[in-house]
Amino acid sequence: FFPKLGGGGGGASPVGDINGAAVPLKKWVAGHKDNDRELVQGLKGDAYYLISTPDGIKDFAINATCTHLGCVVPWVRSANKFCCPCHGSQYDENGKVVRGPAPLSLALAHTSVLESGDIAVAPWPEQDFRTGLDPWWS
Ligand code: FES
Repeated sequence: FFPKLGGGGGGASPVGDINGAAVPLKKWVAGHKDNDRELVQGLKGDAYYLISTPDGIKDFAINATCTHLGCVVPWVRSANKFCCPCHGSQYDENGKVVRGPAPLSLALAHTSVLESGDIAVAPWPEQDFRTGLDPWWS
């Protein structure tokens, strides 16, 4: 799946790799398998997970900041969950909280691909598709 081209007032900004360099979709796809998740620098300098599909990335990214006290939450492939090492909170594969003490699900952002071919993220002000609630982060 390839997210729609970004641009035109969507507030999309390019993600950065560990060195802050842009991340072209082509390069990402070449280096990842289906359901891989890896951190990039996203909105406001926060770390976000991009999620690979067989031929691209999902149209949302997941903020890695635990909603309990702010630890960065690792993805645990063997459990198919995000598991916070600080106090044991768990989030499902889409970042929905499934075990506390975290009170809320991980924040979302939209992903898109800029005309340059680089991956970008944009704010997610819409309803949270995982809970049906308004987004707490917006
Ligand atoms: Fe993640 Fe406390 S900061 S469980």
